[in-house]
Amino acid sequence: MILSCEVEGVGDPLVLVHGFPLDRSMWTPLVERLRERCRVFSVDLRGLGSSPLPEGEAGRVSTMEAMADDIVETLGAEGVGGAFTLAGLSMGGYVALAMLERHRARFRAVVLLDTRTAPDTPEAAQRRLELAEAVDEAGSARMVADLMTPRLFGPDATRDQPGLVAEWDAKMAAAPPRGVAAAARGMSARPDRLQTLIDAQLPTLLVVGEHDVITPHDEMKGIAAAVPGSSFVAIPRSGHMPPLEQPGLCADAIRTFLDRLA
Ligand code: MLT
Repeated sequence: MILSCEVEGVGDPLVLVHGFPLDRSMWTPLVERLRERCRVFSVDLRGLGSSPLPEGEAGRVSTMEAMADDIVETLGAEGVGGAFTLAGLSMGGYVALAMLERHRARFRAVVLLDTRTAPDTPEAAQRRLELAEAVDEAGSARMVADLMTPRLFGPDATRDQPGLVAEWDAKMAAAPPRGVAAAARGMSARPDRLQTLIDAQLPTLLVVGEHDVITPHDEMKGIAAAVPGSSFVAIPRSGHMPPLEQPGLCADAIRTFLDRLA
């Protein structure tokens, strides 16, 4: 499926993949800082932002694998046939790992922000499936925003940037409910992909907000310890959303990593 994709800037291709239940506008402050260095492709994953969801049964579950294939197809349509660096945050990281498994040759490097390689526990998977049913039934993602908003941002943004927090609470609540439910079902079915990341033997950058409570610092640090040669950057004064909470520091971390590849 071809996704809605925004393309900006000049240079090496950098693909940005958003988290759940968000859309590509979460990358806007980062794109502004990286577009002089990279040709930046930011996609809306299927059923989220302005990308469509397939009709029928295929639209009930957005697997990480299908989302990964969508990105490759979309980049092909944008004329990108060669290798790129891909950065994924949280669910975007799960998609990045599925893509590594299926399309390893397309990667030049990978950046994983505030994400994990481990699957859901059975209890977490069950909670997600129940949430998906509830969102479908309500026809609204408001309950997802109510769950996520208090956990998405760190204490600094919560105190100093109430406008940012309110903006994203409203965006999450207005996210397309069928797409949100399908993505939740897809996340619940993802396997462990630590070995995929190790076997990829790619330049790897791991970034985490030091106050992230969704994918905590120590868990990301553990991934860094397991992946030979990977780089790890903790972003101070940030929760789960460094590209929004600390865009300057987050862009610096990615730029430094890309400069080392050059
Ligand atoms: C995200 O930010 O994409 C989600 O928190 C991921 C998850 O729920 O596992």
